[in-house]
Amino acid sequence: MITFANVLTEPYLPGNYNTMIKIEDNVDLRPLNTFGLQGKVRRLVTYTDTADLTELFTTKKWQVGKVTNIGDGSNLLFIGDYNGTLLKSGINHPIKITDNNNDDHIFVTAGAGMTMDDLCAEMASRGLWGTENLSGIPGQVGAAAVQNIGAYGVEIADLIEKVHLFDTVEAAHVSMSADECHYGYRTSVFKKQPQRGRYIVTAVTLRLSKRPMPRLSYGHLAVKVSAFPSPEEIRKAVIEMRDNKLPDWHQYGNAGSYFKNVETEISVYDRICSIVEPNEVPHYRLNDGRIKIPTAWLIEQCGWKGKGNSEASVWQKQPLVLINATGNATSDDIIELEEEIVRSVHKKFGVTIEPEVEKIRNI
Ligand code: EPU
Repeated sequence: MITFANVLTEPYLPGNYNTMIKIEDNVDLRPLNTFGLQGKVRRLVTYTDTADLTELFTTKKWQVGKVTNIGDGSNLLFIGDYNGTLLKSGINHPIKITDNNNDDHIFVTAGAGMTMDDLCAEMASRGLWGTENLSGIPGQVGAAAVQNIGAYGVEIADLIEKVHLFDTVEAAHVSMSADECHYGYRTSVFKKQPQRGRYIVTAVTLRLSKRPMPRLSYGHLAVKVSAFPSPEEIRKAVIEMRDNKLPDWHQYGNAGSYFKNVETEISVYDRICSIVEPNEVPHYRLNDGRIKIPTAWLIEQCGWKGKGNSEASVWQKQPLVLINATGNATSDDIIELEEEIVRSVHKKFGVTIEPEVEKIRNI
């Protein structure tokens, strides 16, 4: 039974698109993850249209072992070889723009397999407001909606009008509003039980503003742009800031922020302040009264910047990011580093930091 998703009469962008299901066995893992981990995938099934999903989930004959749907693998850590079936989204039809002659906003629907930054680039070039602060984030649109990607004071949840889905249990096309997706910091209904793994995002409809809506309050963004910036100008500034701080995964394999920031009670924040000199800890007050403490700062205080083991290390300019330093790191090397960092932060501050990357296991 479908509990809260709305059954769609028509899937996203019905039309005469070529459907193509490609099934490959014993595939190289490396191009499927930005961490650059090496290994094998038992079966890879790539699809290019919503109709492919209906076909695939009617027969299910193609499934071997555990089935996991992935995008560009930019937030994943594969634990060893993957002995099941990876389903990879290639739904990337031209974007659909719905303008209801409203003066304020416009709706833009993009396929789940579109590169998120291509969407940001296109929106900025059309002068539409909303996605510019999310520029430069690796990965696909569908994964962005699962993960609730965020940067420079904007989360994609702020822009989502509707998420178009394929329900693998009912083999039906459905949709959910942003409320129904239960978005939180880097999380959604799609990442939590009991719905985890049930839905595959096929497309996302964003509500973008026609009127200027610059969001410049995060960090130094305001000083990097002019008094009345365009979305293009903000996009450029965001990309420049990211390039200065974050490693290019083509050069040093990584999955962006490896850890989440800490969201905690005031008492914990006060305790941390009392441990450090001069009792100053960077922090942000959350709407619910709790305190957000940058995990990058906690890790830096433990002396981890630029350090690591023989294969994996902590990025010098942003210690929230772990890199495949030699290009030959295994998931064991990365997890060994993760665990050492977690232990040392806990020892110094009494706080348990949590990974943000998704670990993909065979079971
Ligand atoms: N900081 C340090 N040392 C450093 C870097 C940062 O102490 O070397 C402290 C500073 O206090 C700084 C604060 O951390 O003000 C925040 O740093 P930054 O602006 O780089 O952001 P972040 O909280 O570390 C988050 C996202 C990033 C996103 C940036 C910018 C998470 C897990 N990460 O990082 O997202 O790009 O904000 O908006 O929330 C990602 O999710 O993969 C990702 C890269």
